[in-house]
Amino acid sequence: MYSRIKDGTLVIDRRDVIRGGFAAAALAVPGLAHGKGDVPTGETEIIDLMDASAIDVSELQPGEMVVVWMNRTFVGILHRTDEQQAAAAAEVGALSGESDADRVVDPAYLVAELKCLHRGCYVGYVNTLEAAFKCPCHRATFDTAGRVIKGKTDKSLPFVPHSVSEGVVSFL
Ligand code: FES
Repeated sequence: MYSRIKDGTLVIDRRDVIRGGFAAAALAVPGLAHGKGDVPTGETEIIDLMDASAIDVSELQPGEMVVVWMNRTFVGILHRTDEQQAAAAAEVGALSGESDADRVVDPAYLVAELKCLHRGCYVGYVNTLEAAFKCPCHRATFDTAGRVIKGKTDKSLPFVPHSVSEGVVSFL
């Protein structure tokens, strides 16, 4: 982890950013042994929120995501591109029946626990045309609002209560 806390806010270092893709490797979590689905997949660093209550993601570019370790789970903060926002707003194929507005506070950012609620595996950010996230355990796929598009559950990635102001995500 390269990101650092400044005045109670965790400030993102670009080396901790994930851009998506089918990375085979799981994220490295020091001291934590893991099997398939126990940690999100993707070649980047885990950012530990430690005692901060907010995270400055203003350096996060559209299409990029960071993975934050907080409250003993992994939370993704995805800066959605204009195209991703439009696709999510169109709600094509979302199984849960939730609108995009039900899932995001600020349309530019999805803030969700990266846990698939079928059997509890952590998903990876794959960032393809077909899906934003994919579960490695039974291959459920999710859109950029965290809603299931295809899979054995219709339950979305859990929403994490937060507010967004000027590129800073504050957890409630
Ligand atoms: S745990 Fe994700 S699809 Fe089964």
